[in-house]
Amino acid sequence: MMETANAAQTIAEREQKYLLRNYGRYPLALDRGKGSYLFDFEGKRYLDLITGIGVNALGHAHPRIVKVIREQAARMIHVSNLYYHEHQGKLAERLCKASGLDRVFFCNSGAEAVETAIKMMRSHGHARSKDKFEIVALENSFHGRTTGAIAITGQPKYREPFEPLLPGVKFVPVRDDAALEAACGPNTAGIFLEVIQGEGGVYPVCARMLRTARAMAGKHDALLAFDEIQCGVGRAGTYFAYQSLGETIQPDIMVTAKPLAAGIPLGVTVANERAAEAIKTGMHGSTFGGGALACRVALEFLDILDGLFENISARSDQFRDGLEKLAARHEFVKEVRVFGLMIGVDMHMAGKQLVTDAIAEGLLINCTHDTVLRFLPPYNISAKEVDQALRILSRLFKKGDEYWARRENG
Ligand SMILES: Cc1ncc(COP(=O)(O)O)c(C=O)c1O
Repeated sequence: MMETANAAQTIAEREQKYLLRNYGRYPLALDRGKGSYLFDFEGKRYLDLITGIGVNALGHAHPRIVKVIREQAARMIHVSNLYYHEHQGKLAERLCKASGLDRVFFCNSGAEAVETAIKMMRSHGHARSKDKFEIVALENSFHGRTTGAIAITGQPKYREPFEPLLPGVKFVPVRDDAALEAACGPNTAGIFLEVIQGEGGVYPVCARMLRTARAMAGKHDALLAFDEIQCGVGRAGTYFAYQSLGETIQPDIMVTAKPLAAGIPLGVTVANERAAEAIKTGMHGSTFGGGALACRVALEFLDILDGLFENISARSDQFRDGLEKLAARHEFVKEVRVFGLMIGVDMHMAGKQLVTDAIAEGLLINCTHDTVLRFLPPYNISAKEVDQALRILSRLFKKGDEYWARRENG
């Protein structure tokens, strides 16, 4: 364990020398976590409202998660998909029952789950016509960093350096049903959308557009996929965000990942029989996917989640109430968007400086889409901790007023 005050600097210097330059990190090195808090090497405490971008949904060092990791690691971590183990089938059954879908593929990340869905769409189209390979996706979407996932990500900055990418992808604006209808045709193999866009600014796609997408997929014999990697598995207050809209519009494919195994990497693609049929034996696979440890932990996570929906809803209301009161006092805040514990504060100005200021105040949040402060708190966060977060945010927003005034003064 590193104990000196210089630990963070030593860590940063070593990383800067030996890691790819792909991450722009904040100047903070973390040592350990407990509940809703993380601690740096000097023992300073940070209230964690970003939870590894939605991964640590039970906070840190949850005793039941620590216990099953210990037990399963001592018993068997991994066996490969050459053989059966007891946890994959049980977890698949739970995911099918929770989603209303039929079959599961396990992998290790969101992007891999998206890749699987893209392959399902392509194979589904290929079986019908050699020209049926088009995918319709949304502007401002984010689906991950593999070449397939960036090809359907509706933000040019992620795609351009790697072009040419997968052909036949069309992007339409969020909530523009007419554009969606116009983009679909007999060559559409799939329609891909996030029910609530995360990296796109915590922005919901709305039931009407999901209904139109469902109708278009039916009309053109295409597969409809929902990306629930950020908004799924409890985050929006229901098992999956598409179940939180009043009416449930069923996808053919649903991908999710982030919180599912409480920090152990695990991604899933869940499909109905019609979509699952597109992947036959030998057409797809993963060495690590669905390992015994990851699946055992995910089963424990889902058991714990069943007892947390009430807290997610109560803390969501508490955040909404507190943030709306705060927003009313600060001109730089445009809109507060709260979906369960997926929360965005949309501002008229860039948010990066406020995120840096928050670290100094002992609060971890992030900023997405340049102007949206994003909070993805743990599902078991307490009322007291939410009050603490709101108090820190109230101080931060006073700084926000200064930045906003400065900007106005030129
Ligand atoms: C909606 C969505 N899809 C896909 C991904 C990619 O997931 P991963 O980073 O695990 O590959 C993310 C990650 O942030 C996401 O938010």
